[in-house]
Amino acid sequence: MATYQLTVVGQRKEVKVDPSTPLLWVLREELKMTGTKYGCGISVCGACTVHLGGVATRSCVVPISLVGNRPIVTIEGIGSDPVGRVVQEAWVEKDVVQCGYCQSGQIMSACALLKASNGKLKLFLQAFSYHHHVSNDRA
Ligand code: FES
Repeated sequence: MATYQLTVVGQRKEVKVDPSTPLLWVLREELKMTGTKYGCGISVCGACTVHLGGVATRSCVVPISLVGNRPIVTIEGIGSDPVGRVVQEAWVEKDVVQCGYCQSGQIMSACALLKASNGKLKLFLQAFSYHHHVSNDRA
């Protein structure tokens, strides 16, 4: 067991866990933040995606000992972020949910992609939307 100081959604947290414990299980079991989901456990499905130091990260394969002082943002906190708020509103408006199990990971991935694109993705989507609209008008 070791003690770790974490910053999770802007709040300082202390946990005592085995250094090999995946971040996902620290969030879910120690901190009772169950918005981040377990799917495959091998970094394939993305259900467990959180932002670690601003980067979309599969928390099921990151041992707590490697987190360091990088801030952690989960689905519980993404709505406080301007990009996160817009993505969540779009999620509801477009009824993206389906079964809902992995949507927290999808939202976290979408937010990271939008932030990393530095506005270029928004321009692409606007251009795509315009093209799609024009194409449908011609059909
Ligand atoms: S649970 Fe599937 S990628 Fe982490």
